[in-house]
Amino acid sequence: QTALKTDAKPAVKTLPDAQTVTAVRHWTGDLFSFRVTRPQSLRFRSGEFVMIGLLKDDGKPLLRAYSIASPSWDDELEFYSIKVQDGPLTSRLQHIQPGDQIILRPKPVGTLVLDALLPGKRLWLFATGTGIAPFASLIRDPETYERYDEIILTHTCREVAALDYGRELVEETLNHEFIGEEARAKLRYFPTTTREESPQMGRITDLLRSGEVFEKLGIPPINAETDRGMVCGSLAFNMEIKEILEGYGLREGANSEPAEYVVEKAFVG
Ligand code: A2P
Repeated sequence: QTALKTDAKPAVKTLPDAQTVTAVRHWTGDLFSFRVTRPQSLRFRSGEFVMIGLLKDDGKPLLRAYSIASPSWDDELEFYSIKVQDGPLTSRLQHIQPGDQIILRPKPVGTLVLDALLPGKRLWLFATGTGIAPFASLIRDPETYERYDEIILTHTCREVAALDYGRELVEETLNHEFIGEEARAKLRYFPTTTREESPQMGRITDLLRSGEVFEKLGIPPINAETDRGMVCGSLAFNMEIKEILEGYGLREGANSEPAEYVVEKAFVG
């Protein structure tokens, strides 16, 4: 259907920022991930996002911010997306197939980067839904393990199936030939569900307030001296986590002024 398909007429001009889809995986009825070719010159820091999209019928690009989920050492780029049935972009993007082309503006930016945090011992990565995407990159970055003694990835979703992408990601990371050893020593995974029975139920915000997450992980509570945080979820989620982290004395950082935690909204197409 799309004018960007590679099997379209050879006369069709390739867009300057076109990249080719190499793989697509549908995780649930409303979640999918896909891989595309990587522009040779593209360098990015783990946790950053780029603008990607498709051409509209009027020939103009329709672009949205997507966190790069793949590590910076990967030859390809991976993205993880929700499917919004009446969403201008994702209603179409969910139908992409290997060989199709998408537009990718090769200008990565974002605040969920290691450089926006002051040195610390323990790094918390708090995600809901597709907010896990930037952390998929960060937990596969050797630098994350160089900078921290412990990395705790929390992921809260409504249903069990929505955790699958993260669960598989963590398993692959722990078994990876280059970073597996570091990850096995330092990475902790804390998945929770809110609307379907699972071993760990509840919003991470409530589990932090009650202290249950510290008990379950067998660690002391968050401490501004040692703990750093990265937050990526819905607006309401981000606000609540911010309040909790500020309550522990952590301050929000930025690229220009590193501090104890950073936040970015999970993008919805
Ligand atoms: P809940 O089911 O209690 O709303 P969504 O699918 O709406 O983006 O939510 C993804 C996950 O994030 C759900 O498990 C949801 O829990 C949880 N969530 C939504 N808002 C908040 C919030 N303000 N604080 C903590 N968790 C939240």
